[in-house]
This record gives sequence, structure tokens and C-alpha cells, in this order.
Amino acid sequence: MRRGVRGVSLVTAALLAVAAIPASAQADPAVRAAATERQMTDDERVTLTLGHLTSALPGRPAPPPEARPGAGYVPGVPRLGIPPLYETDASLGVTWIGGARGSGGTQLPSGVAQGATWNVALVEQGGRMIGAEARAKGFNVMLAGGINLMREPRNGRTFEYLGEDPLHAGLLGGAAVRGIQSHNVISTLKHFAINPQETGRAFMNAVIAEDALRESDLLAFQIAIEEGDPGAIMCAYNAANGLQSCGNEFLLTRVLREDWGYDGFVMSDWGAVDALDYALAGLDQQSGSGIDPQPFFGEPLKQAAQADPAYRQRLGEMVRRILHAIFDNGLDTHPAAMGAIDAAANSEIALRVAREGIVLLQNSDGFLPLGAHVGSIAVIGGHADAGTPVGGGSSKVLGDEGPSITVPFLRDGTAAFAAMLDQDFNRSSPLEAIREAAPQATVRFRDGRYASEAALAASQADVAIVFANQYQSEGFDVPDLALPEFQDELISAVARANPNTVVVLQTGGPVTMPWKDEVKAIVEAWYPGARGGEAIAEVLFGMVNPSGRLPITFPQSEAQLPRPRLDGLGTVEPNFVGVGAPGQTLAASYDAEGSDEGYRWYARQGIEPLFPLGHGLGYTTFEHEGLEIAADGDRLTARFTVRNTGRRAGADVPQVYLAEAAGRPMRRLAGFAKVELAPGEAKRIEVPLEARVVAEWEDGGWHIAAGNYRFVLAKDALADGPSATIALGERRFRAHEGP
Ligand code: BGC
Repeated sequence: MRRGVRGVSLVTAALLAVAAIPASAQADPAVRAAATERQMTDDERVTLTLGHLTSALPGRPAPPPEARPGAGYVPGVPRLGIPPLYETDASLGVTWIGGARGSGGTQLPSGVAQGATWNVALVEQGGRMIGAEARAKGFNVMLAGGINLMREPRNGRTFEYLGEDPLHAGLLGGAAVRGIQSHNVISTLKHFAINPQETGRAFMNAVIAEDALRESDLLAFQIAIEEGDPGAIMCAYNAANGLQSCGNEFLLTRVLREDWGYDGFVMSDWGAVDALDYALAGLDQQSGSGIDPQPFFGEPLKQAAQADPAYRQRLGEMVRRILHAIFDNGLDTHPAAMGAIDAAANSEIALRVAREGIVLLQNSDGFLPLGAHVGSIAVIGGHADAGTPVGGGSSKVLGDEGPSITVPFLRDGTAAFAAMLDQDFNRSSPLEAIREAAPQATVRFRDGRYASEAALAASQADVAIVFANQYQSEGFDVPDLALPEFQDELISAVARANPNTVVVLQTGGPVTMPWKDEVKAIVEAWYPGARGGEAIAEVLFGMVNPSGRLPITFPQSEAQLPRPRLDGLGTVEPNFVGVGAPGQTLAASYDAEGSDEGYRWYARQGIEPLFPLGHGLGYTTFEHEGLEIAADGDRLTARFTVRNTGRRAGADVPQVYLAEAAGRPMRRLAGFAKVELAPGEAKRIEVPLEARVVAEWEDGGWHIAAGNYRFVLAKDALADGPSATIALGERRFRAHEGP
């Protein structure tokens, strides 16, 4: 147990502090927060509002010696039993910081892979696993819960986030937070609220109408907050409608506090604070202040509070919010303590997520799964001999031994961040896993550098499996959606040499596929995590029946997107911190699609993407029937039957979409389930439908117009299926009610 001042342990000090409060109120974190804050000096108050870096950066203040190598550190107040905050990234596990901690962490598949599971319980289990690891490594805050919606498919952080739909991202993101926080670790949700791209991220301005924002990106956060009750929210780097997100009163105060009643605290992203008055806008804690122009929330905040009642009032509130999260999550009574990790058990969870997140996009002639009869296989490209790709930036997770190989990510001015940005591969080699899955087969590997050599190997094999990667890293968008480094040409050359070609994509987000009709099968494996190689082999050979469904839409080409060109491409020089030339501005307008992002845009435009959200095949078939929609008092519910009509056990993801609202055709995901079924088995399923998806945001609240509402039970966002219509009366409501 860590010792506080004068030999009083933090837990004892916490109990002493609690003793001053009447017993009936002791459990209430709000009451405890208020009582504790009253006892604090101003120096102690500002201590809680100011975060520090945990690693030395040239020309920046040295980290406090007691900080643990991670992402941030906020000293506590030992005399009152307030523990320090030891912060680590991120949504995919406890991050790798170049080995500085002497250990790594168990790497969950990328966020988009987690999103592709559509499995709320499994994502929660993943959260529990990484939360336990964070705690055992001495952290009590996880900068996790990345749930930004994919407005810009070229966003270099697409891999970190869950998808493009507000209900889907809200339910899964809330589950992840719930899991993490079950271990006395505060989780964030980030990056509040519309953070669509990395190009110019420090200054780009996301322009969008309020109603559209409420119905999309804000709705994802609102649902995730309701589901996960995160202790903290991290505001984004960029501006929204003209104001930097971390100094944006509309977002941080009006929406988050006043409308939603959120009772945790808002921390800034690292380097996102430019002024003291962000405190007045609703920011409660300045993170990693060493990289901001100055520690605004230290001495300057204290002085402002002593001179100005508005700052005085805010300082008290900021501290109470931080304390609320600490007490609510038991950080004081269950301090983070170094402990053992069952790495083998934890990697089983990563493996389960990978198995359920891999999406079988195409399977002509039922070519997959590969059978034991395959005599020879050519495995090509993607560094499949080494491991599977790991996304770059602050969310990079690697196991204790670090990467198997590293491909340098060299760009102008990136030297200082090289370790974060380099393209690392983990140690879960798909090639080895394929060899194990097909011990009788001759398996040859070609790295794919020469298309001719790869094609020759393919022509000599029964089956060719090409691994094609798209690397993504925080700080940089991809300029377009083509597979980089001539992999399209490689795939075509291999497909010409062998008609039995399978492509395994390991991408951060969507890519275009000019070779789609030339290959038999396409498997989207994303960045599949600590045991990704195994999971891929299990899907290819049928030990696992794929049940992943796309959480994002893949366009046929960039021309189909609301913004065919990436905003800032060619005008903003790509750089990790996302700053522009002096005085440079960049506005990106999302008015074209409004709240109809992703599949909703395609539905509205009547255009057919390459693969829509919700799409995914398996090795069995499912039938949906008997859709009924009921309004039971305040709740809308869908009931239907799912039947496994094939010969293999498997899981399906039935999706209920709003297809017509009071005469207006549309597509909006209103509910979904993940259902396991034995061959021939049928189950009647009940799925709650989200009323805010059925409503429009109008005049400061949700509005459901009177009329007929038609829902479709479909296999993807644009497919047809059984439909049912219900008449709803007019209804206006605010946050938590339903029609
Ligand atoms: C990222 C955050 C991360 C923070 C701390 C920032 O660069 O945007 O997501 O939590 O760094 O590492």
C-alpha cells in the first residue's frame, strides 16, 4: 500500500476525511466531493486541475519524479486522502511507451474491429480486461472510450474508433467504459465531440448545424455516457463551430452539463489548451500542461480565483467534479497497485474479440473456408511472416517483448515522435498460424515486394492468400482510400496468376478495391490485436464461423463521399501535432450530410457503396421473419425471429433500421442484437429501439412527428428485409424519455 504524508496511508486518510460526513451521506460521491472540497486550500484545489507529462520532452518542464511512465499525472492531496491520478492511454489496452515501463500490455483489436463485433457484452469484457491491466500496472485513469464517428473515412484515427453510427458507437463505447471502470479505474470518453480528421487537428474547425450534431456525434456521446457513466470526458483538439473544443461553452457546459446533467469532469486533450478562460467555458482539468503554452490551471487559475468570483465559483466546481469521479469510482478506497497480470488469460479475450470482429466481405462460390485438402498455399505480403499491424500514435499497444518488426514512418519533422509513429507489427504471425492450421500443406511466403515473384509463387500453389495493409496513425490522415505501396497491383497480378486468390485486408478504415471481382474471397481483419494471426487463420480454415459486420461503410471511390477530397489536403502540411502555418485556418463543413453520415448519406443519395455498414458474411445462412414493432408505454421494441438455416453453428447480427418516418424515406439504425444459433435453431429476439434515432432534434428538444413509422429488419444498412409499420402520435421529449 502506498503511504501518504506522516505515514498515514491514503486509504486511512480517505476514511478520516469521510468520517467528518454524516454516515447517511458517506456513500454519495457528490456529498463527499463537496465536503472534501470545502476543506481544501486554493493551492490544493489547483493541484487537482493541473496535469503533468510523465516523460521528459526537450525544453519542457521535467515530469514529477513520482509520476509513472504513462500519459499523464495529477498529484493528489494526501492529507485529505485524495489519490494522485496516474493516467495511461487508451481504448485498445495499456499503451506501449517504448518499453519505458519495462512491460507492455495485452493488445485488443483496433476500435473498428471491436465495433465490427457488434457484441456489447464482449466489448465490455474487453474493457474489463484492459481496465484490470491498467490497475495492475499502477494506473487509475484510462484515456479510453474513443468513440468519434467516422465522418471522414480518411481520418488517420479511424482504427481507434468504433464506427460511423451514433447508436452503435454509443452502446459499444458505453460498454467499454463500463468494463474499464469496474476495476476502480476512471475511463474517459473521447474526443468530445466532433473530431473528424487529423489534418490540421490543432486548429481545423468542424462546421455543422446544431440539429445535425445533436442527432449524430453528440448522440453517440450522450448514449455512451448513459450506458457507461464515464468519470471523465476528454475534449478534442479541434474547433467546433468556431470555438476550440476545450474552450467551447456550448459543448462543455450547455450540452454536457445543463442538458445531459453529466456529473464527471472534462479533461483536455494533451496540448489542447490555449487560454485560462477555458475554465469558464467548462474545462475542469488541463492535461499534460507541459506541452501547452503555459500551465494555465496552476498559479494563473489560483490568482484568477482569488480576484474574480466567476473563477472562484468555477474552481470549486472543477474540483468537486474531479473528486466526484475519484470517489464514485473508488480510486481512494481501492488505490491502483502494481500487481500480476494473467497475460495468457487476457490474450484469450483479445482473441475472442478478433474472432468476432473479422468480417468476411466476399466469398464467391463459397470458396472459404479452406479445407484440409489444400495441398499448397502461397502467402503473400503484408509482413504476414512477422505479425499483424498495430495502429500508431498514443493508442499503440504492444506486448512485453515489443514489436516483431518496425517499418519507419518517416515524414518531415516526425523525428521527435518516431517511436509513436513508426509502423510496428506485433508477434502474432498469420503465416505461422496458417502453417499450424494446415500442417499437411506446403506453405510458401513471398513478401510481395516484387509482383512478378509473388505471381509466380501464386501460380505454383493451389491457393494464394494476399495480405494487404493500410497503416494508420494518430496525427496523419491517409490522403486517399487506395491501398498504399502498389498493393492493388500486387493483388491483381496474383489474381491473374491464380483464380483461387483470397485477400486478407488489415486496414485501419475503408479502402477501395479495384480488384474486387478478380478475387474469390475478401476478409477484413483490421488490426486484429495480440492474437490476430491465429484469429485470421481460424476464419480462413473455418475453425471460426465469421460473424463480424462492418461498423463503417466502404465507398466504391472517393467520388461517392460528401467531400471527395480530404479537407486541407495540399494546403495544410501534414504534421503530428496538427498545427498550420501562422494564421492558417481550415474549415470543414459537414452540412452536406448533416446527421446523415456514413450509410445514411448513401441511402439519402440513392447511391450504392462498395460495402455498407452492417454487411458481413459467414459460413452458414440466417433467415429473419415475423418482425413486430410495439410501443409499450414509453418504449419502442422490435420483436422478430432469427433462424440458422445452414449446417454450421454461428452468430448473426440482425439490424433494425428506421426506413420511413412520417412519410419520409430514410435509413437509421434503431436497434441490433448479436445472436448465436445452432444449425436449424430459431430464436425469438427482443430489441429495444432508440427513440432519439426515431426523432429529429428541433427547437431545443427531440420531436417525433405524428405518422406512420416503418422499420426494416435487415442484414445490412441498405438491404431489404421483413418490415413492420407502427403509427406514433406526436411527441416532444428531452434527454432520457421515449415516445
Ligand atoms: C491524443 C489523446 C491521448 C493523449 C494522451 C493525444 O495526442 O489525442 O487521445 O489520450 O494524447 O496521450
